[in-house]
Formats: sequence, C-alpha cells, structure tokens
Amino acid sequence: MVQISTSILSIKDNFIDNIKKLDNTSTDYIHLDIMDGNFVPNKSFSYEEMLEVKKNTTKKLDVHLMVSNPKGYINSYKNLNPEYITIHYEIEDYLKYIDLIKSLNIKVGISIKPNTNVEEIFDILDKIDLVLIMSVEPGLGGQKFIESSIAKIKKLRKYIDENNLVVQIEVDGGINDNTSKLCINAGCNILVSGSYITNNEFYEEQIKKLRK
Ligand code: DX5
Ligand code: ZN
Repeated sequence: MVQISTSILSIKDNFIDNIKKLDNTSTDYIHLDIMDGNFVPNKSFSYEEMLEVKKNTTKKLDVHLMVSNPKGYINSYKNLNPEYITIHYEIEDYLKYIDLIKSLNIKVGISIKPNTNVEEIFDILDKIDLVLIMSVEPGLGGQKFIESSIAKIKKLRKYIDENNLVVQIEVDGGINDNTSKLCINAGCNILVSGSYITNNEFYEEQIKKLRK
C-alpha cells in the first residue's frame, strides 16, 4: 500500500497541538520542509521548531532540505534520527552530501525540480534510497500539481523495475484525492501531502482518501 508523508508546512495555528493530532493518525511519516531563502525564495522552519516536533511525535521523520548548502543542516537534522534526509539534485556537490548522509546511517533521497529530466539521475539510483519528484516548484504549499510529473514517475518506475533497484518513489506538491490516484497508478510509493490534509479539521479522513 502507498505510504503517506504529511507535510506540516501549511499548519498555521496551534502548531504543537496539531502535531499531536497528526501523531494520532495513520500517516507513515511527518515531512519536514526546510528552506534556506537561497535555493528557494522563502525560509521555513528553524531547527529548534523541528526539535519541538520531534518531541511531540512518534512518527518517522522525512526531512526535505530545499537548501543550497546542506552540510550544516545534515549535521543538525541527524540528531532528530530521521528515516530519510533528501537533498536536491540541482545543488553543487550533491554526490558529496549523498556520502555524508549515508555515513550517518540515514537513508538518502534525491529530489528533482519540475524542470529537471528524470533520466539525469538514472546513473545515481544505485547510490540512493529514494527519489523525490517535485510536482510543484519547491518553496510553497498549496500549489497546483504539474501534470508532466506523471510521465516522470512512469519512466522512473520502469527503470527501477527493469534494473531490479530498491529505490522508493516519492511525489511532493499538489497531492489531493485526484492527483494521488494518478501518482499511485504511475508507480509511486510515497505521497507527500500538506494542505489537503492539514487545511481540513479531520486529518485521518483526508489521509484515508489519499490511500484509496
Ligand atoms: C513545497 C514542499 C511541499 C509542500 C506540499 O516546496 O516541498 O512539501 O509543502 O504541500 P501541498 O501538499 O500543500 O502542495
Ligand atoms: Zn517537501
């Protein structure tokens, strides 16, 4: 069954209460969107805020670093004992950071932006655990799903299966009960969803609709 990683980027009020509420749902992961104001225009959470999240949840963490220079972030976020740390393919020296994350015994993800061709990462798939396909421009919650992401998922699924690789395909941005079906049928394993879940009072109802 598809796994759900809930992005907490769009939670506005009662932040910690809502983290506790999420802890009582069936979400598989909590997705932490970390932005530096350089790789993307906005800044998001501080490390201290994410430490508070960690203290208030039993869920596995899925860290998405939208930052140009991830070294310091990786060395901080390792302390939250995340399941995955994902960096972007479009930054300098990404190969070096793959090795750094691996050396910490954390699973490593590589994310590609909407304008990056998925074929570009085929030759590094044997080094990583997860590909995060951005289905919106990184930087903001609540955007519309870019349809061409579906073709990327299909190509990646075909390549992974044909080469017997063990790599998860995660999709992030504009996921709702329609786009989730398209992504699942195309072969994705993990859906990241933010506003569709957290802009609603009943988180678990929304999560159930995504899994269908
Ligand atoms: C965008 C982030 C996403 C986003 C998802 O830069 O990486 O995780 O917050 O939010 P929704 O589901 O609202 O598109
Ligand atoms: Zn994200």
